[in-house]
Amino acid sequence: WKTLDDMELAGKRVLTRVDINVPVDGGVVTDATRIERVAPTVQDILSRGGTPILLAHFGRPKGKIVPEMSLKMLVPALEAAFGTKVNFATLDEAEAVIAACAEGQVVLLENTRFEPGEEKNDADLAKRYAALGDVYCNDAFSAAHRAHASTAALAHLLPSCAGRLMQAELEALEAALGAPKRPVLAVVGGAKVSTKLDLLGNLVEKVDMLVIGGGMANTFLAAQGVDVGKSLCEHEMTGTAKAIAEKAAAAGCEILLPRDVVVAREFRENAPSEVVPAEACPADAMILDAGPDSVAHVEQAISRAATLIWNGPLGAFEIAPFDAATNAAAKFAAKRTAHGELVSVAGGGDTVAALNKAGAADDFTYISTAGGAFLEWMEGKTLPGVAALG
Ligand code: 3PG
Repeated sequence: WKTLDDMELAGKRVLTRVDINVPVDGGVVTDATRIERVAPTVQDILSRGGTPILLAHFGRPKGKIVPEMSLKMLVPALEAAFGTKVNFATLDEAEAVIAACAEGQVVLLENTRFEPGEEKNDADLAKRYAALGDVYCNDAFSAAHRAHASTAALAHLLPSCAGRLMQAELEALEAALGAPKRPVLAVVGGAKVSTKLDLLGNLVEKVDMLVIGGGMANTFLAAQGVDVGKSLCEHEMTGTAKAIAEKAAAAGCEILLPRDVVVAREFRENAPSEVVPAEACPADAMILDAGPDSVAHVEQAISRAATLIWNGPLGAFEIAPFDAATNAAAKFAAKRTAHGELVSVAGGGDTVAALNKAGAADDFTYISTAGGAFLEWMEGKTLPGVAALG
């Protein structure tokens, strides 16, 4: 794929697909990370005399106009991040607004998912988009797992390239799993094995060590015959967990499961808790975090690793004190990264929130802005939005 460096931008209308699907509360952006991360692309286009015309989705309006999902509400946050005026237009108004857009300003088009053709990757809608611009730049890695008109079909109709954020995401992920420095350690946590089956299946063939944490570790413990009491556990998945463990053994991937665990009788903040060996969860208690021995074991693995790829918390990190294992391991990884001893890449849903909460995110080598796309990429799948860039 090409980057912005390969494109002639002076005087060009640059249709730029961004992912500004940010959390909003009462019309106010509560986390502007995704907006800030596309600013370098917008500024690069502007500084080279191009006009960025932003295409983006918000929420899942499913081809209908849902006023609360209008991108108009993001204009102030975009103007703050880009330092210039952002002119908003619906698709019908787009040509006139773009024609009137002053040099140095940006155009933002209405939520692409208001168009029924968007999620169908409709060729006619892609042609309508293409008629508005000269160049296509995709900077939405986090939407690249969707084959939609603005992420896939459009890329074939104009000279196309990756934006700065897309480029950074792909380079970081390639460094972590494509041609990584070994040994490679993956930390995979989260509630359920069933949502991460493809991920685990792919990782055990690619990485040298795999830490399994969170609720899904309980399913792996149960697969070894451990009684996990009232813990979150997918008992119907124990056969699958066994098969993954066997595949890992055959591929030479060491799986690390909790050795000791923090158990409580209630799922609430500061619920009374105790540390017990992983195989000794009382029948009326549930496992809510990994214990100190487990953390030491994970830290030892991080010390042996040259590359770390992290997805998902090790415990119920939303409620103290069950965030302790996630916090400790994240801080340990951040410190090794800051010392230049580790390449650390993290992404996917809760992960970034957990690392931010631990105060560890800033020292990671790379934090992906992607949720679902990060997972699909880690599963070894081809992302249509990336494939379409050639
Ligand atoms: C995300 O928030 O992960 C992306 O914007 C994709 O959103 P989607 O899951 O609604 O396609």
